[in-house]
Amino acid sequence: MSKRRSVYIAALGAIVALLLVFVLALPLALAHRQDLPLERVYGDAAVSVVSRVLGGDAANPLANDPRALASGRTAYTGSCAVCHGAKGDGRGAFGPTTYPDATDFTSAAAKEKTDAQLFWIVKNGLGFTAMPAFGSQYKDADIWAMVAYIRALQRGTASALVIPEPSLAQLDAADLSVSRQTRGAAIYFALGCHLCHGPEGNAPGDLSIRGRIETEIVRRGSAQGMPAYGKDVITDAELADLESYLLRFAAIPSSPD
Ligand code: HEC
Ligand code: HEC
Repeated sequence: MSKRRSVYIAALGAIVALLLVFVLALPLALAHRQDLPLERVYGDAAVSVVSRVLGGDAANPLANDPRALASGRTAYTGSCAVCHGAKGDGRGAFGPTTYPDATDFTSAAAKEKTDAQLFWIVKNGLGFTAMPAFGSQYKDADIWAMVAYIRALQRGTASALVIPEPSLAQLDAADLSVSRQTRGAAIYFALGCHLCHGPEGNAPGDLSIRGRIETEIVRRGSAQGMPAYGKDVITDAELADLESYLLRFAAIPSSPD
């Protein structure tokens, strides 16, 4: 009887321990944001095993096909470089921000993978990581072309398409392509003007009716409840954007109540 009882207690202990693992370990695992060495080793091994078992051992039918390299480069630059970097070094804009980091294809571990493994990973993605599955977006031939291009990056024989960083002047110019009204609307709602003036700028008074914004009152505020907004909050250019947004409402017949 007492032997049986100690078996029960041991079993209960095991269950409690398991529960603790789930309750404590999983949140910890999800919350931490840097590599634990063992975890990285385990993750790499898991990726290797799964991609080897499921990926088979097909050779790349498009290896060294120059046309495939060219189309692979285009597809890679469009779909992969944001994370893996134009040169494949894992330094794309989002590369170092994901957990785990986007793979550096020039690393030894990535070079060791077979073509079939790379193909399988690109087609199916890697669950629990930021690596998306591209099987529905690209035909098999396109994926083989990207694998060929990754190999060329690894050999250092690829001429990567490097998209230059935009200059500030270019960004400003690009911004003009957005209409003033769109920008004005964004400012209107972002700064909470609608909380008092309503979504259409017709409360308490009609903001659109005068054909221009009384900039004076926006800058100085009023004792009747209009807050003051300095140039550090709304620039003159933004005020002009706001104006063209509010003027739009003058053209829209008000909705019947
Ligand atoms: C949103 C970011 C993101 C994008 C976009 C992305 N990847 Fe990944 N990729 C990752 C991450 C993160 C990993 C690493 C997963 C890990 O460490 O287990 C990865 C891993 C891989 C691997 C496995 C490498 C290895 O040696 O384990 C291959 C191959 C790969 N990506 C190819 C591609 C290709 C080709 C594209 C474009 C079609 C692409 N990736 C787009 C984030 C991305
Ligand atoms: C806390 C409420 C509140 C917020 C937020 C607010 N306003 Fe006002 N606003 C008022 C009141 C009340 C008046 C009327 C004041 C008066 O008549 O003295 C007014 C008046 C104005 C006027 C003058 C209207 C006229 O008759 O010519 C303009 C222009 C204006 N607001 C623009 C804005 C803009 C743009 C924003 C967002 C950046 C904003 N307001 C945010 C309450 C507010």
